[in-house]
Amino acid sequence: MDLFRTKPIAAFNAEAATSHELNKSLTPLNLVSLGIGAVIGAGIFVITGNAAASYAGPAIVISFMISGLGCLFAGLCYAEFAAMLPIAGSAYTYAYATLGEFVAWIIGWDLILEYLFASSTVAVGWSGHTQDFLSEFGVHLPAALSQAPIRYVAASGFEATGALFDLPAAAIVVALSCLLVIGIKQSAAFNNVIVTVKVTVLLAVIGFGAWFMFNHAALAKANLTPFIPANTGRFGEFGWSGIFKGAAVIFFAYIGFDAVSTTAQEARHPQRDMPIGILGSLAICTLIFVGVSFVLCGMARYTELNNPAPVVYALQHIGAPPALRVCVEVAAIAGLSSVVLVMLMGQPRIFFSMAKDGLLPPSFARVHPRFRTPHVTTIATGAVATVAAALLPLSVLGQLVSIGTLFAFVLVCIGIPVLRKLRPDAPRPFRTPFVPLVPILGAGICLVQMASLPGDTWLRLVIWMAIGLVIYFGYGARHSKLRPGGETGAR
Ligand code: ALA
Repeated sequence: MDLFRTKPIAAFNAEAATSHELNKSLTPLNLVSLGIGAVIGAGIFVITGNAAASYAGPAIVISFMISGLGCLFAGLCYAEFAAMLPIAGSAYTYAYATLGEFVAWIIGWDLILEYLFASSTVAVGWSGHTQDFLSEFGVHLPAALSQAPIRYVAASGFEATGALFDLPAAAIVVALSCLLVIGIKQSAAFNNVIVTVKVTVLLAVIGFGAWFMFNHAALAKANLTPFIPANTGRFGEFGWSGIFKGAAVIFFAYIGFDAVSTTAQEARHPQRDMPIGILGSLAICTLIFVGVSFVLCGMARYTELNNPAPVVYALQHIGAPPALRVCVEVAAIAGLSSVVLVMLMGQPRIFFSMAKDGLLPPSFARVHPRFRTPHVTTIATGAVATVAAALLPLSVLGQLVSIGTLFAFVLVCIGIPVLRKLRPDAPRPFRTPFVPLVPILGAGICLVQMASLPGDTWLRLVIWMAIGLVIYFGYGARHSKLRPGGETGAR
């Protein structure tokens, strides 16, 4: 069995040219908007406060820059691949062209961690925010339907919560999966509305925060001093090690810009527009993250930000107009729903590509005759994500999502110099600059962030991969279209 058989670039291009099944309707603006839709969510609205309070202090701004730099390097590599191989499978496809089928399977299986579990994790965050918001109006769900039946406590392990399941988390996944079956255009339109709301509100927060800091310069200066709090003596608690730990933790905030590449087959002009979508959304989100985290630490002392709604807290703390606070709450709820939407959109498209290559059953490559969406995989993804969102304590899965995504980024970065060597003359509508420096730096920063994640997250990653290997050798390797005697393999 040849584990390193690669799929020829000509085969990808033929597939892209002849495949009219999926609806090619996405414009550059849609693509940038999908990236922002997937990125701005729980990371900035929830995790930033904890990362500032526990690891980096006001220097969380530097953590955002470091993590953003790693994403920029990886994003430049994604852009070269996505313009060159405009096929739905994202990093899975790129690995198939460069590092061979086995690595491609590993990365495809790994991407399931990213998209499937990110959608469930963020759906649970959406449920919490929505319930908090409704409770302000006296609306309360029965306790049995308000959270997962089990939770994970670091000291004592899993324990029962007494609840049956998380109804709102399950409901949002079902609703968005239905939207995704109906159409990519409708889904993109829905996403555009949400992105407009959340970007406008975050810009308002930055504007208001800057105005406040300007008018209360002494207070802002006190809040921001020391900008890099002294290390407590333990690795990762403030000081420069804290900045790096903070970068690894808030990496979750950046996850999602890569999801743009899963829609390559639905873009009108993927060669030109994929780099615009990937890099444009990343640039806009980085500026917003740096701006929001800076004003957040200027408005309130970082030690007070360790709560589930730090932006709302900071605004309340300085007596901002209640309307702005309500807008932030609405934007967070809307923002989290678009993250779930785009993640739920990415996963079926990875399955779709894997099934096209024979590594998953052919039904996974079916496209709805009228809606022209990969409905079988969208429904399958939605079903698993609904169960996970309803029943699992997803706090443990958040870091698993990060490690899975970082791993994908590392392999994409490695793939660029490999393909430059293997196929130096293949047309590259977009070229990653400074190869191999940019890919090496990208892979390096991602590896450092992976290394700062806890050991049990690594263990879960290994277990997940082991399950994937069983499926690959049990099914994928034997049905691959590249196997000897397969549809496109040697005869
Ligand atoms: N980047 C996404 C979020 O922060 C996953 O919710």
